[in-house]
Amino acid sequence: MEHVLSVQQFANKALLDKLFASAAKMQALDPTKYPKILKHLTLATVFYEPSTRTRLSFETAIQNLGGQLITTENAAQFSSAIKGETLEDTIKVINAYADGIVLRHPETGAAKRAAAVSGVPIINAGDGIGEHPTQGLLDTYTVQRAKVKIDGLKIGFAGDLLYGRTLHSALQLLALYDVEFYFLSPQSLGLPEKYLKELDKRDVTYRILHDWGKALTEVDVLYMTRVQKERFKSAGDYQEVKDDFILTPTLVKKMKKDAIILHPLPRVNEIPPEIDDDPRAQYFQQVRNGLFLRMALLESIYR
Ligand code: CP
Repeated sequence: MEHVLSVQQFANKALLDKLFASAAKMQALDPTKYPKILKHLTLATVFYEPSTRTRLSFETAIQNLGGQLITTENAAQFSSAIKGETLEDTIKVINAYADGIVLRHPETGAAKRAAAVSGVPIINAGDGIGEHPTQGLLDTYTVQRAKVKIDGLKIGFAGDLLYGRTLHSALQLLALYDVEFYFLSPQSLGLPEKYLKELDKRDVTYRILHDWGKALTEVDVLYMTRVQKERFKSAGDYQEVKDDFILTPTLVKKMKKDAIILHPLPRVNEIPPEIDDDPRAQYFQQVRNGLFLRMALLESIYR
């Protein structure tokens, strides 16, 4: 079986269509009819960084599919990493207990390191500021479910485009379609050059903006992100940019009536709760979609 390390493994529209169709099928099922494809299998969720959605949705997905679960939700503190055990040794040890490992780690490339020593599938649940492939998949699935056709969409990413691993994954998948991107961020939190170069290579149209300008009136999808305090070296640097892209109700009024607002969550203040009841706010639906996307992904691995 394949490890799930990067969205680049999914850079194929036919493969995405198949995965999204399975997720939609799973989503339409009565919960009593979920296929028990993980019966007699044990999966481990090993998280060295905090998580609400990714860990709990994977754990729900594993149990919905009939699997057993072992977990450490604060591996940095409560696994033997605190005693100096290497990631490689930890992964080899968990191989003795589990048929797959869902791993979140603060170091970019950690999932790849784990995969190099693992005899069971490693699923990258976020590696530092690198990638979050299953989030990118669920984001793209959400766009497809809401808009039906991804081709032709104008998609804005706003906030922290430098450290935001979720959007790094999502944009690589969305760029497979005929889309136009708007990158809205403070100057210091722009999208890393490597992603821009990749988009240039693939002739994807994009605009880089440092204020909202007219973008809000033009986008079909607005993907908001949190400015991630924990990634900054100094509190001053964070304070300087943290409120540059706040989506107020007044700004939402300028958006197209059929636009959608996404956010990988957690949010801080970039989307005030007053916006949650606007039908364009799809971020809690995005959370729900993630469960079924992850069930479909597990099905594709273990079927
Ligand atoms: N979107 C996301 O990765 O959320 P968690 O950090 O809560 O898993």
